[in-house]
Amino acid sequence: MSNVVIVGAQWGDEGKGKVVDLFTSWADVVVRYQGGANAGHTLVVGGVKTVLHLVPSGVLHPGKKCIIGNGVVVDPEALMDEIDVLKSRGLLSDPTQLVVSENAHVILPYHKRIDAGREKKEAIGTTGRGIGPCYEDKVARRGIRVRDLGKPESLRTKLTARLDEANAQIASLGGEKLELKPLLDWALQLGRRMQPYVGDGSETLSHEVARGRAVLFEGAQGTLLDIDHGTYPYVTSSNTVAGNAVVGAGLGPTAIDEVIGITKAYTTRVGNGPLPTELNDATGEKLRTVGAEFGATTGRPRRCGWLDALVLRYAARVNGLSGLAITKLDVLTGFDTILVAVAYKLPDGKTVSEFPSDPELLNDAQPVYEELPGWKEPLGDLREYSELPANAQRYVERVEQLVGVETIAVSVGAERAQTIVRKNPFRHV
Ligand code: IMP
Repeated sequence: MSNVVIVGAQWGDEGKGKVVDLFTSWADVVVRYQGGANAGHTLVVGGVKTVLHLVPSGVLHPGKKCIIGNGVVVDPEALMDEIDVLKSRGLLSDPTQLVVSENAHVILPYHKRIDAGREKKEAIGTTGRGIGPCYEDKVARRGIRVRDLGKPESLRTKLTARLDEANAQIASLGGEKLELKPLLDWALQLGRRMQPYVGDGSETLSHEVARGRAVLFEGAQGTLLDIDHGTYPYVTSSNTVAGNAVVGAGLGPTAIDEVIGITKAYTTRVGNGPLPTELNDATGEKLRTVGAEFGATTGRPRRCGWLDALVLRYAARVNGLSGLAITKLDVLTGFDTILVAVAYKLPDGKTVSEFPSDPELLNDAQPVYEELPGWKEPLGDLREYSELPANAQRYVERVEQLVGVETIAVSVGAERAQTIVRKNPFRHV
């Protein structure tokens, strides 16, 4: 069996949830390795809608092991809310189905207050879930980890040491300070509730791998939101790229066999920062309406534009993509012509065909488009690649050619069944 990483190849919201759900049916273990409750997957199974922010969507399949790795930042309240909903639906009846790494860092209320306060000043357009401030504490070696929630005395010492500084920061941002006692009680009570799920994620996973079980590493957000490789500073605070799958899960790089990049058939972004192919016109509006482009976590309207081949080629490079899955191809039905950016014209007159490593150059980059003929037929009922209209096939094949990576799946609608699978990444190693 093999181990597969799924990563967003754009700015997040590529429809990973649906692909993860499909791939989960082939995997035995599903692992989250970075990010936190800033991610959001809406899954519709048997007509019931479930929104998951932290628990891997594998939990909807009884018997599949789910691991929240050490690289995730865990909001204990959000986690327990999700667990309660799952249990009320008869899922997660066996607590050993889910392992939350005891070394994952915990998002505390002060992280959210700092995040919210900063947004009023800096406007990165964060999800307000405290992600950045929690990763800051991790790197500054003053974080609280999941294991700490089970140790009352040491938690009191650590929170006492941290709270004065956190409160000073909150106050400087115009927010309301926190008291130690209620904070401590809150954390300990959630720690007790989380206890049945807490364990050694790395050890559990390595044991599963040694048994030959197939592992799906479920990336959150997207490549262009990576803290190192994204459009800094308009990024999230973790490494979203595939290389972090093993770091955030506690394995070594040799554990990975395949890396699949998920891309929409066009481009979207929420939050601020450059988006070279953004369309502030009727075409952009059409993509947003037909594609229902509103954030799963915050409900914000997404910014929309044509596909950007420079972004995808860059994602192929920094993730080492071995396959692509293209989602929402059906949304492009009805356009006379479909555009794909193949180069940028920069303000100094130069034309570049590789994604620039200086994101500031993107602010004034003018996309150079290639025009491809559209198609009129709805795609939602098609299940074989060969049934796609000739121009839809031509579009997919041109994307493959521009990115240099083969397409292993094409999604043509929101339902689980509306997916054309060309290759199962778990079986060809
Ligand atoms: P943060 O992750 O909440 O700190 O937000 C930083 C940036 O990442 C903002 O532009 C967010 O909109 C973006 N972001 C975070 N999570 C997601 C996601 O799951 N999908 C899309 N964008 C996201």
